[in-house]
Amino acid sequence: MISVNCSPEVKEDDLARILKEIRKDEMGGWMELPRKIDMGEFVRIKEAAKKIRDESEYLVCIGIGGSYLGHKAIIEALRPTSETKIIYAGNSLSRRELDMALAEVGDHDFSVNVISKSGTTLEPAIAFSEFKKKLIEKYGEEGAYQRVYATTDAKKGALHDEAVANKYERFVVPDNIGGRYSVLTAVGLLPLAVAGVDVDKLLEGAAEATDIVVEPASKYAFMRYELGKKGYDTEVFASFEPATMYFNEWLKQLFGESEGKNKQGIFPASVIYSTDLHSLGQFMQDGRRNLYETIIDFPTDKLNAKVVQAVRVAHTEGGIPVLNITVSDFNEKGFGELIYFFELSCAISAKLFGVNPFDQPGVEAYKNELKKLMAEE
Ligand code: PA5
Repeated sequence: MISVNCSPEVKEDDLARILKEIRKDEMGGWMELPRKIDMGEFVRIKEAAKKIRDESEYLVCIGIGGSYLGHKAIIEALRPTSETKIIYAGNSLSRRELDMALAEVGDHDFSVNVISKSGTTLEPAIAFSEFKKKLIEKYGEEGAYQRVYATTDAKKGALHDEAVANKYERFVVPDNIGGRYSVLTAVGLLPLAVAGVDVDKLLEGAAEATDIVVEPASKYAFMRYELGKKGYDTEVFASFEPATMYFNEWLKQLFGESEGKNKQGIFPASVIYSTDLHSLGQFMQDGRRNLYETIIDFPTDKLNAKVVQAVRVAHTEGGIPVLNITVSDFNEKGFGELIYFFELSCAISAKLFGVNPFDQPGVEAYKNELKKLMAEE
């Protein structure tokens, strides 16, 4: 169960209109997804996960942005057990990072899950070409291709075409679901199943959430909007569980890419306490008052709970609005619910700010500059 501690004015007519718009949006497929899983594909995902676990010591997950943050967040948080280690590549252009990933796999048996909806993103494309070379060297062409799992568009894109030509096992990122809303599709489910996460429970939590989080999610979204309009232009997500650091990263991408357009939106930042009380804590207590804090209050031990309480009081006294999102389960079901809660909150909030929650036109700017620089070489 998720609950929030704020009571903004929720304009019911606006909310009804927004929910209708999201549901009808061509990119609103994530809304019904937990209740409408493609069971045929879900079974194939589990079978593929079993095969990968049987034959590989490593699964290299190659993808960037929405193609990796969600599953990494859940794996890091829940630390499931699996003999197959998940490692990540293709989420930067650093040659050093790529070499380290290649070196870590070394001579071990491995498989690759390359994840890209568009199938044309530079970072994963470069990493994939390196790991493909390594697979071919180790297993020969035919053996290599049997160890590649491609999660991409159902019909188009360079990765789709290559997957068809080389007969990689393919999974689909549905047309009506964008990258940052895709963790409950094959994008997240395959790596999560390999890592040993109970994906049935994760989906169960998300499916239950489709009904029960509408109220808290709308309250939180309207509260964000109210705070934003009052000049609070930065939201700091605060968690007291270090294992949720990547969940914060997922949140930042979700809100940043969904809301930050047309000079609108709230800048998403994050802290892990009590660690960051000894770095950003000073600013939070006493710095420029343009920010508010959203505590994601996971169940925790007695001492840590006291820190949550202390921070709430101290920061409120320091003049920061402190929101509290209480999460009752630190497990697959809890994260399924939480993911859906934030996806819905984010879509509603973006709509309140008058922007499209599902596009990301600003991401193209750096790509165009990079293309120009690469062409100069
Ligand atoms: O949320 C999004 O749409 C983006 O962050 C994408 O996930 C990211 O840019 C990767 O795109 P692709 O999956 O097409 O490689």
